[in-house]
Amino acid sequence: MKNQSGRMSRMVRRMAARIRSLRYRNQPERIVAMGYDEMASDYGSWALRHERPDRDKYTKLLLNNLPEGSELLELGCGPGDPTTRILAQHYAVTANDISESCIELAKQNVPSAKFILSDMTTLEFDAESFDAVVAYYAFHHIPRDRYAPLINKINRWLRPGGIFMAALYPYDVEQLVTEDWHGSTMYWSSYDEEKTLRLIREPGFEIIEQSKESAVEDGKETTFLWIIARKPGPD
Ligand SMILES: C[S@@+](CC[C@H](N)C(=O)[O-])C[C@H]1O[C@@H](n2cnc3c(N)ncnc32)[C@H](O)[C@@H]1O
Repeated sequence: MKNQSGRMSRMVRRMAARIRSLRYRNQPERIVAMGYDEMASDYGSWALRHERPDRDKYTKLLLNNLPEGSELLELGCGPGDPTTRILAQHYAVTANDISESCIELAKQNVPSAKFILSDMTTLEFDAESFDAVVAYYAFHHIPRDRYAPLINKINRWLRPGGIFMAALYPYDVEQLVTEDWHGSTMYWSSYDEEKTLRLIREPGFEIIEQSKESAVEDGKETTFLWIIARKPGPD
């Protein structure tokens, strides 16, 4: 009986994913926004429960490299805990997400930050607006042909000497829609490590730290490519 209802709910999820991926095949950002709207609170408590030593390691590296009080933009902030909250204890944070539910939770979790609800690929800022731009586990939800224009914009938004830090999926995946990321349909897209690093270097970033970091998520090992890159500028 239990097996049967499990099979049924898997079938329903698969069908829902298929319908959503067909309906929004030209708007993958809608699939992502709807998915995170459905699971914002579940994702938030999972992220807090779930140990990711890479998150801590790179947050510490950032804190060591970026002076207190710097102006920082976070892309794809999610529900804001644990990372936006920690960043906002040290920096003037502007945080962005495409999911309204994530932004609502993040506002409660981090009242001192400024929030922008939008697709990160459509954001616009003046040149040299920030000392750092960070993206924790978010790029792999945007279509990969939008990576290069976004990385170029990030480079432009940074002041000379500014820092770009990101956790990226280092796999060659043109696009994939899955039916059960925290119970919701989700869209994924990424390049392999070599191409990702090339895209980051292209606008002139110098990569000052990089490593592949693995952690076990719900019994499955996942690996992210972490980078800290610097826009050339005054030494
Ligand atoms: C895996 S979660 C990571 C959340 C948070 N950065 C963390 O470290 O837990 C990915 C986040 O990126 C956001 N996201 C995905 N695509 C986006 C886009 N195009 N623009 C802005 N945010 C996006 C999602 O809504 C989600 O909150």
